[in-house]
Amino acid sequence: MRLRTFENAFHSTDKVQGYTHDFYKYPARFSPNFARFMLDSLTEPGDYVLDPFMGGGTTIIEAAVSGRHAIGTDVNELARFVTRVKTTPLSEDDISEIRSWAQDVRFATKENKATQLVQIPIRNMPVAAYSFFDTAIKLAGHLRFPRRRLFARCALLRIGQWALDVRSSTPQIAQLCDELEKKVEAMLKGLSDMVSAARTNGVYKNKVTASRQLFGCSASASLLRRALSRRNVRPKLVLTSPPYPGVHVLYHRWQVLGRRETPAPYWIADVRDGRGASYYTMGGRSTLGVNNYFTELSATFNNLKHIISPDARVVQLVSFSDANRHLPRYLEAMSMAGFEETSAENIDSRQVRLVPNRKWYNQRRLENDAGREVLLIHRPIN
Ligand SMILES: C[S@@+](CC[C@H](N)C(=O)[O-])C[C@H]1O[C@@H](n2cnc3c(N)ncnc32)[C@H](O)[C@@H]1O
Repeated sequence: MRLRTFENAFHSTDKVQGYTHDFYKYPARFSPNFARFMLDSLTEPGDYVLDPFMGGGTTIIEAAVSGRHAIGTDVNELARFVTRVKTTPLSEDDISEIRSWAQDVRFATKENKATQLVQIPIRNMPVAAYSFFDTAIKLAGHLRFPRRRLFARCALLRIGQWALDVRSSTPQIAQLCDELEKKVEAMLKGLSDMVSAARTNGVYKNKVTASRQLFGCSASASLLRRALSRRNVRPKLVLTSPPYPGVHVLYHRWQVLGRRETPAPYWIADVRDGRGASYYTMGGRSTLGVNNYFTELSATFNNLKHIISPDARVVQLVSFSDANRHLPRYLEAMSMAGFEETSAENIDSRQVRLVPNRKWYNQRRLENDAGREVLLIHRPIN
């Protein structure tokens, strides 16, 4: 459904869902309604849109569906993995092989029940869950094409998050099997809805994948600049939410049985891990960490200034642990990178929205700054 007014889109309290958005609940996703409204208001079909901190790919999906070309990058390989799967349509044959795989997992895990595991190679992974995922991953390895294997691993990632992350007990293997079949069906439905919506906007199924380019590097990397300039790509809109200064978000771990962290998502997705939390947040919560954050922010936007179109708009949603102290520093970092604040299509910068359902804040903290997002709109100074 198209949301007609900015107010509706910006203050939307809808869950992040629809299309392929909930293939994986990437932490700190922003609202698809907001992304859709901004894309409709500030770009035309065929324009390039960049999300330099793409996370779970909200901007990329909405851009691909609405006939824009999307460019995304993220230092987290998990982000690139899920965004890739969320924007990869499947054929009827793909779908039927994936359905058979989900059924085979049930039979194979039944047979494996008696297996005694001496040592689990994945830190803090419960034994029964490990046995289920290990079996399912091995079976997924036999699927015929990479896109089928990636979809299967993404379904397991979704199940793993549901079964393990911030739960006090782990479901039985039979429940994991039931949930896998259910989630696979829900994901296939989301993918089919996304493909139909793209088609309505003139993007044929076989063009969806080609309409986005995904990088796995830092937004400050010269590699990104070189790659886009080689292709003569100049995005008209940057639509993003960077990591938040001084706010601790766990992008790269699940918390199992209390607060024990597991790197299981990287094992399930089969992507590179090995970095600490502060790598994904551009600095920790210490004074040094926050200083690093603003240095990196400035370097990033300075890099982006050379990539985007001279008349581009930069639209960001940012949360602050302490807005009084950090918002001025944020604006200063943008200014040092060569950007000035502006409005766009009568939408003013610095509007504030309350963020619903953020699991890492308790109710008391929700009333503080970190439970809010500030909209910032900039343009490059030419
Ligand atoms: C708030 S999340 C983005 C969420 C996204 N808007 C969504 O809807 O899913 C911020 C992302 O920035 C990524 N990140 C952190 N430092 C980065 C850097 N230097 N370059 C690119 N991405 C970075 C993190 O890994 C994280 O995925």
